[in-house]
Amino acid sequence: MTENPTDPHVHDLLEFLRFPSVSTQSNHASDLVACANWLRTKFVKIGLEASVLETGGHPAVLARTPHDPSKRTVLIYGHYDVQPPEPLDEWKSPPFEPEIRDGRIFARGSTDNKGQILAHILGLGEILARGEIPPVNVTFLVEGEEETGSANLEAFLESHREELACDVIVISDTGMAAHGFPTLTYALRGIAALEFKLTGPSQDLHSGVFGGAITNPATALARLIATLHDADGRVAVPGFYDLVQPLFDWEREAAAALPVTEEQLRQLTGVRALAGEPGYSAVERLGARPTVEVNGLGGGYQGEGTKTVLPREAFAKLTMRLVPDQDPATVLQQVSDHLRDHCPDTVELHLTAGHCGEAYFMDPNQPDGLAARRALEKVFARSPALMREGGSIPIVTTFKKVLGADSLLLALASPDCCAHSPNENFPLENFHAGIRLHQAVLEELGREGRGEGAATDRAKTERPGFQNG
Ligand code: BES
Ligand code: MN
Repeated sequence: MTENPTDPHVHDLLEFLRFPSVSTQSNHASDLVACANWLRTKFVKIGLEASVLETGGHPAVLARTPHDPSKRTVLIYGHYDVQPPEPLDEWKSPPFEPEIRDGRIFARGSTDNKGQILAHILGLGEILARGEIPPVNVTFLVEGEEETGSANLEAFLESHREELACDVIVISDTGMAAHGFPTLTYALRGIAALEFKLTGPSQDLHSGVFGGAITNPATALARLIATLHDADGRVAVPGFYDLVQPLFDWEREAAAALPVTEEQLRQLTGVRALAGEPGYSAVERLGARPTVEVNGLGGGYQGEGTKTVLPREAFAKLTMRLVPDQDPATVLQQVSDHLRDHCPDTVELHLTAGHCGEAYFMDPNQPDGLAARRALEKVFARSPALMREGGSIPIVTTFKKVLGADSLLLALASPDCCAHSPNENFPLENFHAGIRLHQAVLEELGREGRGEGAATDRAKTERPGFQNG
């Protein structure tokens, strides 16, 4: 594959990646607007009608081909916002000055999600540049708040229902089972965020003068966090697993068949050994089991050298990853109650709930699932893996509720893409495959609409044991 930055598609990606569109950091608000405008211009250049629309937060970009009512409509969703690039000194090249090394493009957002969504845009661009009419109507929705939980997008969907009406949704914002291995993600975990703070003395105190006679909020915080799991790694919050369904047999088979070994995962993460809930493989723990994770914690002196201080407060930021049927609000309540029950009464507990999103599950054997699998097989020349993703895209369940459409999650990220981490990268090979995949999936979804798809292909594609989904 080309590594040539003068390749027009790669050039477009380099431009897109230069916008520091960090949605969590308010000082970047104008960069998000500039990035949205760049996208609109790109859509117009390839021949679409496009607009940048207010959402109440960072703007969304909407673009569409002329809609023929006799054809199916496919909505392509992606996001142009990115995670914060910190810690900056761990990047080999600056996060917003994209660099190509060893066939990969390094920049914040290269995989998550600019490279993946741009592949779809350019894929359609190629169809239109050939003077062809796409086999389906295409609508693009590219938002700027995914990484902060898409807080304003539900209301936006409600108020733009007609423009967004579609038969099916296509999203490339998940990870492939292995590098170059085609993957249909059929489930996503949900998420519920909770921050808590423990306060004790009215100000920081001398730890020699006062230590020993009062509860140290940092110690209390550590003890409280330790109550969240049992010694084996199961979540110890009462009721947490109540609604969690067992995996289907076909899912356990599909998970076992993935080209992912525990040793590969160990190397990828750099840990001494994997760990987690007993009774499940690492792949199952990652995609199909719920978790409670500490994302951040703090309190006390963080500077150089020693400071004998007894901090007045300590905090932790948690996220729970959820599986189908777990309700984020209920889980927040369960974890909050658990923390209250275990908090010593010598400190005060302050809880702040954050963003929430439900898990998603789609039957990969439904006609459009089979169409997506045919498209993946055509582009990657091998039968695609079926995988549950551990990450979350909360809007996907909202799409189902508001627009009534399922999302086909066509993974383009490689396992070592370093999403959310320093040195995020996207193999140019995946970028070019994504451009072809866009064309293949429109083709297959169009066949489905003409009644040429599932009825004949189901028998061919379906493997025994895959009917339960
Ligand atoms: N694209 C990711 C989800 C993802 C990451 C899938 C890595 C596959 C591999 C998405 O943009 C994301 O990071 N979502 C957040 C959601 C949250 C901020 C509400 C997540 O999962 O943490
Ligand atoms: Mn993403």
